[in-house]
Amino acid sequence: MATNQDMIGRNEIDDLEAILSITNTDVDAVAHAVADNADAIFTWDYEKGARPKLNRLYEKAKTSMWNGETDLPWDTPVDQEAVVLANAANAGGLNGGMDLTGTPFAKWTDKEWIRLGIESQNWTLSQFMHGEQGALLCTAKIVESVPWIDAKYYAATQVMDEARHVEVFAKYLDTKLSGHYPINAHLRLLLDDIISDSRWDMTYLGMQIMVEGLALAAFGFIHQLTTEPLLKQLLRYVMSDEARHVAFGVLSLQDYYTELSAAELRERQEFAFEAAVRMRDRFLQQEVWDRLGVPVKEAVRLAMEAPERAGFQSMLFSKIVPNCKKLGLLDAADGWLRQKFTELGVIAFEDWADTGEEYDMFQLARGETGGDGDQARVPQPA
Ligand SMILES: [Fe+2]
Ligand SMILES: [Fe+2]
Repeated sequence: MATNQDMIGRNEIDDLEAILSITNTDVDAVAHAVADNADAIFTWDYEKGARPKLNRLYEKAKTSMWNGETDLPWDTPVDQEAVVLANAANAGGLNGGMDLTGTPFAKWTDKEWIRLGIESQNWTLSQFMHGEQGALLCTAKIVESVPWIDAKYYAATQVMDEARHVEVFAKYLDTKLSGHYPINAHLRLLLDDIISDSRWDMTYLGMQIMVEGLALAAFGFIHQLTTEPLLKQLLRYVMSDEARHVAFGVLSLQDYYTELSAAELRERQEFAFEAAVRMRDRFLQQEVWDRLGVPVKEAVRLAMEAPERAGFQSMLFSKIVPNCKKLGLLDAADGWLRQKFTELGVIAFEDWADTGEEYDMFQLARGETGGDGDQARVPQPA
């Protein structure tokens, strides 16, 4: 059976040296190739609706499309410094109320804290954009590799959704923020693993269940926190799509996983655990500390100790854990993943709502579109 060393390249989950030793080496490259190792599958069974829940999701997706250019209020001015100050006011001050005596931050004035806040925004939105491109490529791969016509149909709509998400995050970064970051090394490692796996269900497990489950929680958190109206609306729109995408993962894998052996399920559990650790590592934003010229290790150690950190980090798993439970992954193979999620401190979410049917709740309501006033394609709440 795989050890932590085999799965995540280190024995101790919190081994800071090992986490920080993973860095991007080719930050100036404009392209990155990954072998996708999977067969493209034709199906000759065209019976639409053979999988009724996927068919319903597909019909819902067709009428839920929005236009990133015209439905969002791009003329909204964004003052990054004001956004940082507004966020700080909600979070107990610019330094989060921490005691920083004896650290490199002890001498920081408001100016440095504001710069950190601005760089964090640039970094966060950049990583969302890269993650969205990961979703675009993964879902295009699902169109090819999944054997069922209802799933191919649905995945095709998700490809369009993800194109729109990459587009709106890129536009927000270019026109409202002040700089891009290359993809975080841990996120890239994870996306590469997901894309290069030859088994079609692993694309779903990595992307729809793990990455998008985390994205849905993170977008929800920022949507609630931010007072910047354009970003708030952008995230609201993206979340209405993401909830469907996560449901797509749950509905597709639910039946399939009942057919797998304990050994096969254990491989899925290990994959889910590896993804969970990579996503946790990526949120340490080591590239920001580097750009600010702060000793990275010390900064990351402090960030890990910050009082609000534990809550934020575990909240990111609030969708993933119940969805893994619904798929039977927590308790398969003698509860191996339950044990791992307990070690990561996120098992408490197991009884939260899963996302199999939650997408109706996230649907855009009449009047929520901003652009051309054409309400006809915006679905009614169920
Ligand atoms: Fe997306
Ligand atoms: Fe998505």
